[in-house]
Amino acid sequence: MKGVILAGGSGTRLHPLTRITNKHLLPIYDRPMISYAIEALVLAGINEMMLVTGGTHAGEFLRLLGNGHEHGIDRLSYAYQDRPGGIAEALGLAERFVAGDSVLVMLGDNIVERTFRPTVEHFARQGGGARIVLTEADDPAHLRHLGVPEFDAERRITHIIEKPEDPPSNYAVTGIYCYDPSVFEVIGTLEPSGRGELEITDVNNYFVDQRTMSYDILDGFWGDAGESIDAYYAVNDFVRENGANKG
Ligand code: TTP
Repeated sequence: MKGVILAGGSGTRLHPLTRITNKHLLPIYDRPMISYAIEALVLAGINEMMLVTGGTHAGEFLRLLGNGHEHGIDRLSYAYQDRPGGIAEALGLAERFVAGDSVLVMLGDNIVERTFRPTVEHFARQGGGARIVLTEADDPAHLRHLGVPEFDAERRITHIIEKPEDPPSNYAVTGIYCYDPSVFEVIGTLEPSGRGELEITDVNNYFVDQRTMSYDILDGFWGDAGESIDAYYAVNDFVRENGANKG
């Protein structure tokens, strides 16, 4: 399985910090944010990965990560997204790198307390389709900013609703997704959303409709450090006190 870490985007919710650097280079406790996603993939057993970035400061990622060997990566490739055309568009840039293998995608601003290695193992046994990682989130105000799954009586996901007015469950979709190689064909069929982006939720709902989507519920803390300046500091405080990426 290949890994893809997405570190493009505009980071407008962290302006003005992200006017002068890439969001994923901002510190989380004692390291640049992107280091945590790299470490999380390595801990999950993935040692061939592609980092997709964009905008200014792309060169800083090379300075930080180099060929990846120091970080436990066998092969580290890079791709450049010309404009922030969405998470699904950014993933599409990795098609040739993934080369018919399955892929685990992680958003570079996500921080986890515990490894999602079990998800990688479950997906390997699943025989195709997609698998996403959910987190429990009890605050409806928070859920209204996230992707929220709706379940049927057998606890299968029936639909994922982006930023729901009325959240259909107490779970949120994190930025950790596993796909079989057909994901690149799905991305090829997407139309830009109202905000002009190719949406990962449309990709996920495709697999939901095919009934090939499954999920795991993450153990421990999950944070999206790009959600707001307060979320950024909450993630910093959590990592300083508790650490991240525990086995
Ligand atoms: P978002 O947080 O949804 O978007 P953003 O980073 O542009 O931030 P904002 O909404 O504050 O302007 O992106 C989630 C992750 O996906 C983030 O780690 C960056 C990455 N991403 C890309 O790599 N390419 C893209 O085109 C977009 C939109 C996001």
